[in-house]
Amino acid sequence: MDNNFSSPELPPPVRAVGQRHVLGLTSDPLPKVRIAIIGLGIRGTRALKRLPYIDNAYVTAVCDISYDNIKRSVRFLKSQQLTDTKVLQGADAWKKTCELPDIDLVYICTDWKSHTPIAVYAMQCGKHVCIEVPAASTVDECWQLVNAAECSRRHCMMLENCCYDVFELAVMNMVRQGLLGEIIHLDGAYIHDLRGRLFGSQHVDNIHWQLEYFVEHTGNPYPTHGVGPLCQLLDIHRKDQLSHLVSMSSSQVGLTGYAMQKYGSNSAEALKPYLLGDMNTTIIRTQKGKTITLQHDICNPRPYERTFSISGTQGFARKYPIPAIAIEPSAHRALTPSKTRKLIENYAHPYVLQWAEEAHKLCGNRARDYIMDARLIHCLHLGLPLDQDVYDAVEWSCLTELTEISVLSGSLPVAIPDFTRGDWNKFHGS
Ligand SMILES: NC(=O)c1ccc[n+]([C@@H]2O[C@H](COP(=O)([O-])OP(=O)(O)OC[C@H]3O[C@@H](n4cnc5c(N)ncnc54)[C@H](O)[C@@H]3O)[C@@H](O)[C@H]2O)c1
Repeated sequence: MDNNFSSPELPPPVRAVGQRHVLGLTSDPLPKVRIAIIGLGIRGTRALKRLPYIDNAYVTAVCDISYDNIKRSVRFLKSQQLTDTKVLQGADAWKKTCELPDIDLVYICTDWKSHTPIAVYAMQCGKHVCIEVPAASTVDECWQLVNAAECSRRHCMMLENCCYDVFELAVMNMVRQGLLGEIIHLDGAYIHDLRGRLFGSQHVDNIHWQLEYFVEHTGNPYPTHGVGPLCQLLDIHRKDQLSHLVSMSSSQVGLTGYAMQKYGSNSAEALKPYLLGDMNTTIIRTQKGKTITLQHDICNPRPYERTFSISGTQGFARKYPIPAIAIEPSAHRALTPSKTRKLIENYAHPYVLQWAEEAHKLCGNRARDYIMDARLIHCLHLGLPLDQDVYDAVEWSCLTELTEISVLSGSLPVAIPDFTRGDWNKFHGS
């Protein structure tokens, strides 16, 4: 690969003696998957309400720094007669939780800064881990996750739920069956006006951390919802590899403007020097010559959009603003909405057939969370490899720092590391 690209300082790509890749990792089947949830804010509480309904999943411990969040979870546990669940609270409680002997899986739903330290320690304690998105915020943290997974031979999966939506899974089926031909270009994005939520919670401790992060960082701080489902379609580190990116951000207007309106132009909130640009646009090229555009904007008034569009030599699929599919020889025009719906049904993914009904009943329009968890527990129960491995987690998460490096360098190309250290090509034999 062309080495003229800038890249952050990386640890040398050598492994410790005895350390091996974890491509295709399997572990002993677990009759019961005993889970500890760390972080009982918005996501952790939802997981706590979901996991007990999944076959072979048992929440045996919960943990948070915050007394209030613990109290809320204890109320829920009592209401469900789940009184055997261990409850740990305090600044170091996460360590004690990872050390508990009767835990198989540590389910991490804390803020971004604590994901990697908790996950690494949990793996060192012999536990499998799953981590909310993004799993890591720097390339160095990414290598820490890879090294911990390879040394401990434990699963490390990022909870990228957008890979488990009905439309994304149906398109994956279409791509696998060749309906769209060879994939040429893909678009992804996370566009979600979060200003009300972020500033509205200024007085509730638990969202503060995101705004604090935006004071210090630019680029795309939350790339995985957009890029994850696209990398799965491209079989990244199975048949292809992300090569390099260029990234550009617009000026910061949205956060500051909103804070000025809400709190006044001399308020502390409005005077915060947010580094984050409003709209970040990144272009990624793979080694096999596919291109991806990726966007991020959480601070302007726009309808929610997790762009997911795929151009192939035989067709096109797009999820937002409304699902549209076009197939050759008539691909200059999208299929009618009813034909599109029919096609999505015809290509329903096996996970959807297996879990979507329960998922919709329990989680409504958040069915993807249930399907993701059900599939994860199913694999751990049977000792199967997971859908997303540690290399997926870090390939998608490392874009956080790499987009920032490109933006700060005036959009110079930045190389994307091969976290498998060349092994993907040997293992998958492509
Ligand atoms: N997949 C999705 O759709 C989705 C949606 C929203 C958020 N997220 C991700 O989920 C994660 C959590 O987001 P949230 O909105 O639930 O945040 P939150 O602030 O509501 O919750 C975080 C919780 O972690 C606790 N915590 C922090 N550090 C801890 C530690 N060291 N030990 C124990 N507890 C600790 C906090 O007290 C809080 O209760 C983030 O990584 C976020 O990016 C994912």
